[in-house]
Amino acid sequence: MTANTGSCADRQPEPGHGVSTGEGLRRRYPTEHARPWRMRDGSRVMIRPIRPSDERLLLGFHQTLSDRTVYMRYFGQLKLRSRIAPARLAKVCAAEYKNGMVLVVEWRPFRYKAPQIIGVGRLSRISGAREAEVAVVIADNYHGLGLGSELLRRLARIARDYDIERIVACILSENHAFQHIFRKLAPQIDWKVEEGVITATVSVADIEVRDD
Ligand SMILES: CC(C)(COP(=O)(O)OP(=O)(O)OC[C@H]1O[C@@H](n2cnc3c(N)ncnc32)[C@H](O)[C@@H]1OP(=O)(O)O)[C@@H](O)C(=O)NCCC(=O)NCCS
Repeated sequence: MTANTGSCADRQPEPGHGVSTGEGLRRRYPTEHARPWRMRDGSRVMIRPIRPSDERLLLGFHQTLSDRTVYMRYFGQLKLRSRIAPARLAKVCAAEYKNGMVLVVEWRPFRYKAPQIIGVGRLSRISGAREAEVAVVIADNYHGLGLGSELLRRLARIARDYDIERIVACILSENHAFQHIFRKLAPQIDWKVEEGVITATVSVADIEVRDD
């Protein structure tokens, strides 16, 4: 299977889909979606919308991802140099928060150390529909600490605020961890499998969204 954007095959948004294309109205930074959270090991992180100044941190994040994680996210080996191409990073970070949201998990290992990005979750509205695609990637060293589930939960709440009716995820059939966390979103999920890729659709109304 060749690498693509890791999006549903017939939708394939560009890397910056759901965030700014540099056109249109630039919105204020949505501070209401920036809130701290405690990982399963007790460490505190900040989960917040991405911003233009995150390019360097995002580059560092991509450098930490294992081949396996890249494969699960992009359905192939999307090369590091493509993932960190300056134009791509700029596009992803230049969010206007209107047609979607990119949340990052920021972690500061020590008080006086520079922060790192250790997770990214994206909600991208599918053009002309009340539907959005969701994708999450967590740095390998931080798998299993609850971050993937928490990013999905927060993106689901944002979808509700954005008046989105359905959330869709495209998942490799061998990706049991993501299937597991997606299943936790709601009791009712529409699950279609085609050529090793699952398209899972959940109605936002069915998602139990806890308010913090
Ligand atoms: C999938 C991914 C986002 C999960 O993130 P995470 O932070 O490790 O997720 P969490 O810690 O919230 O939860 C992981 C859950 O999966 C479960 N899990 C892990 N491996 C599993 C497996 N092989 N089979 C079934 N469940 C599995 C864990 O037990 C845990 O369940 P629990 O919360 O009920 O205890 C992360 O592994 C990742 O970035 N993978 C690569 C990118 C990717 O696959 N993205 C999805 C496609 S967009």
